[in-house]
Amino acid sequence: MRILSNKRRNAATAVTAAAVLALSTACSSSSGSTAAPAATGSASGTITWFANQFGPTSTDVRKTLIAAFEKAYPNIKVNLEQAPSDSDTYRSTLITQISGGSSSFDVYNGDVVWPAQFGKQGLALPLNSYFDSSYWNTFSNGLVTSLTYKGSTYAVPLFTDNAFLFYRKDLLAKAHLPVPTTWEQLQSEAETLQKDNLVKYGFAAQFDSYEGLTCDFTEFAADAGGSTVSSDGTKATIDSPADTKALTYMRGLITSGVSPSAITTFQEQQSESLFTAGQVAFLRNWTYAYADSNGSTSKVAGDVGVVNLPSFAGQSSPGYSVTGGWNLYVNPHSKYLAADVDFLKWMTGTEAQTIIAEQGGEIPTVASVLQNSAVQATNPAFPVAAKNKLNARPSFVAQYSQVSEAIYNNVNAALSGSTSPSAALSAASSQIDTALQSNGL
Ligand code: GLC
Repeated sequence: MRILSNKRRNAATAVTAAAVLALSTACSSSSGSTAAPAATGSASGTITWFANQFGPTSTDVRKTLIAAFEKAYPNIKVNLEQAPSDSDTYRSTLITQISGGSSSFDVYNGDVVWPAQFGKQGLALPLNSYFDSSYWNTFSNGLVTSLTYKGSTYAVPLFTDNAFLFYRKDLLAKAHLPVPTTWEQLQSEAETLQKDNLVKYGFAAQFDSYEGLTCDFTEFAADAGGSTVSSDGTKATIDSPADTKALTYMRGLITSGVSPSAITTFQEQQSESLFTAGQVAFLRNWTYAYADSNGSTSKVAGDVGVVNLPSFAGQSSPGYSVTGGWNLYVNPHSKYLAADVDFLKWMTGTEAQTIIAEQGGEIPTVASVLQNSAVQATNPAFPVAAKNKLNARPSFVAQYSQVSEAIYNNVNAALSGSTSPSAALSAASSQIDTALQSNGL
């Protein structure tokens, strides 16, 4: 583990007058058990971090981070509270608890697609005044914009997820096949590998009815030249020939037997398990899948390649990766804001971000850590990520959760064969328009 000699110096960095004022104001209105928030680094107490597991399944990087934080800040203890792994279930839990006034946790991990909704609904504390501009400048502008809704910034960025195509190098070598760069090529290579009895299935991804399917569909649609919502956020664009082409291709993966029919119930974990069990040649998954598929419990360790996702023939290469990832948010009911801010600041500093990259197999949000050559060398997915063509889900609209639900419910129905791709997209389109016309509460 890398230990940084300047960690205490960083921790003692002065906060702006506005931040001190904001901290004092916020804390003086709490129960009185809060440590005096004179400046970052002087807080004490115990805070609770509500977080789902991230990084490789074999090691819990959250515990490594907590141990390193407590060493750097001996006056603050962090309790870990396990959160649901599926983004939608987790969001519902948070909404119920925070809108009910719960202060049973102080800081929580949250999906990158939540700032607009959480900002609008008062589910996250606005953070602008707690961090000065030199702090925000350690991240890319795009990242900071994604945390911001109507001028307020509701989170700090913990790690970035990109999607990749993971493939079996050994199988492609045996069959003398190149790494596919188009979806059509992937389909035909998968069929060849299956016909030659080299592998049971060709392709796995996340086709269950949940947020992950919105990610996968957004990528296929963008690869075909389509989108889901207009760039000004006012209307659905999903009922288009390009989107229909994408969904028809996805359904064809199932009807051709390239993907198992159970793929319509697969989230990240099920698709990855099929791959690490050696049962599928190609996998669409997030960054950490590289660490997992080369881990000690993987049957395919050493045989896994990672490249950018394919595109459709005739479209520019590579294909799109949705921008995923997780942020750290502060519960507006927390009574320990000074300690919360210390924790957020440390988790987005060099030491924590290096742990997240090297031991967590996730893309760090701090540009200088990602660019560090020692960090780059730890994971072949990092240099590939630099060449990814990124596409954002339309999460800048406060009604995003309803928009996404309209996408994944209808797309999943077409994938299961209970409706046609065009009927599914027409239904999704009218549900998205209804959601966009609502006030998002
Ligand atoms: C990953 C991504 C997140 C996305 C989720 C969908 O956790 O980081 O942004 O919403 O997958 O399952």
